[in-house]
Amino acid sequence: MKILVLNGPNLNLLGTREPEIYGYETLADIETEMKGVFPDVDIEFRQTNSEADLITWIGETRGRFDGIIINPAALTHTSLGLYDALKAVSDAVPAVEVHLSNTHTREEIRHKSLTAGACIGQLMGFRGFGYTLALRALVHRLQS
Ligand code: DQA
Repeated sequence: MKILVLNGPNLNLLGTREPEIYGYETLADIETEMKGVFPDVDIEFRQTNSEADLITWIGETRGRFDGIIINPAALTHTSLGLYDALKAVSDAVPAVEVHLSNTHTREEIRHKSLTAGACIGQLMGFRGFGYTLALRALVHRLQS
């Protein structure tokens, strides 16, 4: 099983970025944790600050990946293009949206996700551990 894990803008700064909200784990820590818990899953982990990269990468998943875990970061709240990209492959490559923080407890602008409607589910508020939980849910769905 091959899973693409996508991370959007500013998530490269995890570890030092507002740790009271996002925790002290870096993206590399999260990647190591996921690969440790799921050694049999082929996990490809990527981060970009570019919306275009994310859209291109999602569009390339058909036939290459079985599923997507995505933290679109700020693009969650703004990107119809990302929603369209996820929707375009959703019949073959299901996605799970993950957020480190519980965005519903934060500024109102973060309460709405444009991208979640193109995903099979959404998981938030468990910091880095949420990625492993999201992968567990995705693997379960792919195997059922
Ligand atoms: C985030 C929440 C977003 O609102 C924010 O823009 C991020 C991170 C999260 O993981 O909690 O960059 O996606």
